[in-house]
Amino acid sequence: MKKALVTTGGGDCPGLNAVIRAIVKRAQQTTNWEVYGSMEAFNGVLRSPKEIIKLDDEKVAGIHTKGGTILQTTNKGGPFSWPVQKEDGSWITEDRSDEMIEYLHREGFDAVINIGGDGSQKISYQLFKKGLNVIGVPKTIDNDLACTDYTFGFQTAVDIATDAVDKLVTTAASHHRLMILEVMGRGAGWIALHSAIGGGAEVCLIPEIPYDIDKVLERLNTRYVGGRGFAIIVIAEGAKPIDGTVVARKSDEVGYENIRLGGVAYQLSDQLKKAGFEHDIREMVLGHLQRGGTPIAYDRVLATQFGVKAMEMAINEEFGRMVSFLDHDITSVSLERATEGQNLVNPNGFLVQTAKGVGISFGD
Ligand code: F6P
Repeated sequence: MKKALVTTGGGDCPGLNAVIRAIVKRAQQTTNWEVYGSMEAFNGVLRSPKEIIKLDDEKVAGIHTKGGTILQTTNKGGPFSWPVQKEDGSWITEDRSDEMIEYLHREGFDAVINIGGDGSQKISYQLFKKGLNVIGVPKTIDNDLACTDYTFGFQTAVDIATDAVDKLVTTAASHHRLMILEVMGRGAGWIALHSAIGGGAEVCLIPEIPYDIDKVLERLNTRYVGGRGFAIIVIAEGAKPIDGTVVARKSDEVGYENIRLGGVAYQLSDQLKKAGFEHDIREMVLGHLQRGGTPIAYDRVLATQFGVKAMEMAINEEFGRMVSFLDHDITSVSLERATEGQNLVNPNGFLVQTAKGVGISFGD
């Protein structure tokens, strides 16, 4: 029998379980592949005792409707920077990739399917270069992975954010308020842009277009007559003013390398008041609600396509590649290319033009 190992790494994302289920179901249609899962990304392989489970029919039945990941996940550590506590209580990291690869070879794993975002795919590529048969599957609500038009989870996050805009409109209109909705996305403004258009916001602020507070104010003032009116701003967590910096803090969690974004909505609120905005403002940070819960049908379908494709790539021994959705086709790209850049909003692209065409201001 041939063996595939599945891992889910990075932040959880709606659709992860649908990918896992599709991999298992596609493998079941062969006579010579069985599928295993490592718990919490590669931690299951690195821990002692190992946390590797067999993925069979019973384990994956009906999981495509569930959020999160049955394999659990982490965005800390990993085979190249495993955290180790020293006697004095401080932490260092160890590269355990050779030991891990040796173990997987010894145990007869013929393919590793690593489902994750940019950080996870960089790990995929490094492991592939060291001789592991890795296939990447792109995952993130941020939609910021290069070489794929969409990642699964993104449309579910957009739906949740758009629903939040719809709900905030009722309060904004009833109280003559400005409601500021902060959404996720790290360095990419995709969730903000889509939900601003979908929800009909007046202002959308994204990392790709640094904003001028006076231009934002100008647009907001068009919404108020004699003290009455309301407005909605959708701001991406990574947005920043011209000459400003992103609102972020360093995490104190051991092994967590990323900066923690969040709170730009409050900064914007202060800036608007200083700039002379006279009406009531409320801020709302949507946070992790955007990536929890049931994946919408679109993401279940995309995730299922990714899972089937990944298993077929394992069968055909197409390693060192990432599954991708390009030009309405499910295809694959080399991990080298996929990890080179990011998928960011084009400030001159059609979607931004569309938003401007319906009067949305980017503060530019
Ligand atoms: O990358 C996905 C994402 O949800 C970002 O949009 C957000 O900045 C980050 O993860 C939050 O990560 P964590 O769950 O570790 O706080």
